[in-house]
Amino acid sequence: MSNEASGKDTLTVRDNRTGQDYEIPITDGTIAAKDLGQIKVGDDQPGLATYDPGFVNTASCRSAVTYIDGDQGILEYRGYPIEQLAEKSNFLEVAYLLIHGALPTKAEYDAWVHEITYHTFVHENVKSFMEGFRYDAHPMGMLMASTGALSTFYPDARNITDADNRHMQIVRMIAKMPTLGAWSFRHAQGKPFVYPDNDLGYTANFLSMLFKMSEKKFEADERLVKALDVLFILHADHEQNASTNAVRSVGSTQVDPYSAVAAGVGALFGPLHGGANEAVLRMLRRIGSKENIPAFIAGVKDGNEKLMGFGHRVYKNYDPRAKIIKKSAEDVFEVTGTNPLLDIAKELEKIALEDEYFVKRKLYPNVDFYSGLIYEAFQFPPEMFTVLFAIGRTPGWLAQWLELVQDKDQKIARPKQIYTGDRRLTFAPASERWA
Ligand SMILES: CC(C)(COP(=O)(O)OP(=O)(O)OC[C@H]1O[C@@H](n2cnc3c(N)ncnc32)[C@H](O)[C@@H]1OP(=O)(O)O)[C@@H](O)C(=O)NCCC(=O)NCCS
Repeated sequence: MSNEASGKDTLTVRDNRTGQDYEIPITDGTIAAKDLGQIKVGDDQPGLATYDPGFVNTASCRSAVTYIDGDQGILEYRGYPIEQLAEKSNFLEVAYLLIHGALPTKAEYDAWVHEITYHTFVHENVKSFMEGFRYDAHPMGMLMASTGALSTFYPDARNITDADNRHMQIVRMIAKMPTLGAWSFRHAQGKPFVYPDNDLGYTANFLSMLFKMSEKKFEADERLVKALDVLFILHADHEQNASTNAVRSVGSTQVDPYSAVAAGVGALFGPLHGGANEAVLRMLRRIGSKENIPAFIAGVKDGNEKLMGFGHRVYKNYDPRAKIIKKSAEDVFEVTGTNPLLDIAKELEKIALEDEYFVKRKLYPNVDFYSGLIYEAFQFPPEMFTVLFAIGRTPGWLAQWLELVQDKDQKIARPKQIYTGDRRLTFAPASERWA
């Protein structure tokens, strides 16, 4: 084969088993896996496939929801930089943007907020269902189960081909997730469930359902409401991460969106996805004071442990969300009083960012480095951290689901396998084998 570029958007492949050449089109920097299927040793042989556990280099969809450039540290929802959305928008407007693909007019925004606000209540049987969990049930397990249970309350949700119907379920789910999340929290505390207060905004209402006791009205400090709202915005979507992939994969069977989102909550429950911020807190507590940082860093460099909250599979630069969260942490601590762990975290970050080990490996703070500190300042137990993540991620899951069900290219998600087991064994009945 010549080394000269032909300028064509194709890939020429020579199968050295047969000596045959194939020309495969390249579109958007990818080849279609099905085009490899024509590469065969013989007509009765299976076509060539790719092996990619964890989808590390396989695109599963075309998507116009979220753009990430990990090398540059860029995150955009529908083309808008995350920094601008976090500073100037609010969670419900961002949810509208993700779902509809464009910013709302004033009338659209008002209608959206009204709809979401008036769907925050759940059927009383959802309440009894949640009360039935064991006293120490993990709130993520409760959230996953109750999200899935909503499908039984809205059987019309199965009609996913109808646009109005889809819209209805999307509104319901964004509206009800804080109710389910707050009740999962109250249950473990043995406290009565607090009904939604529709006079309050989305995030203020969530705080009321979490923390209200005997007062007539729960009014959270505006700075805390803003900080939590920003955290929801930062978590609202992150393109094809594990939980979104779960939503899409389950959604590809054309099941109702509650069942698909319940799968997303399940994926988020796993420690590899939603659990690093808790590990950061444990690490900071173990370090204990600034003087111990150099010894800790030396241990990390010797490979004894990891600097939790640093490094990311996609971001090889400062995670843009970490910068915003650091600022939010300072705002929150102004209200709640400082946490000495924040000073340790900031010093740790400063030292790590100047250290050749971290610079060379492009290890920067990620979204989890400061978020646990904020959640702790709100007095959330670590089990609640992923519940907060799930509430924030719900519009993203739904935007991706909506895109999936309208995408003509999509099929039921059904990967191939490379079979490694036995074949053509002869079965002997138990009576013979055990004789
Ligand atoms: C997120 C994470 C799993 C990404 O992993 P990855 O993209 O597969 O990166 P790798 O594990 O290949 O790491 C590349 C190098 O950096 C090192 N490294 C990665 N993260 C590190 C960390 N947090 N502390 C110390 N060293 C780290 C690895 O040991 C490896 O070093 P080597 O080249 O000498 O072997 C990883 O950075 C990590 O475990 N971070 C801590 C946990 C965390 O904060 N997770 C939340 C993610 S949002």
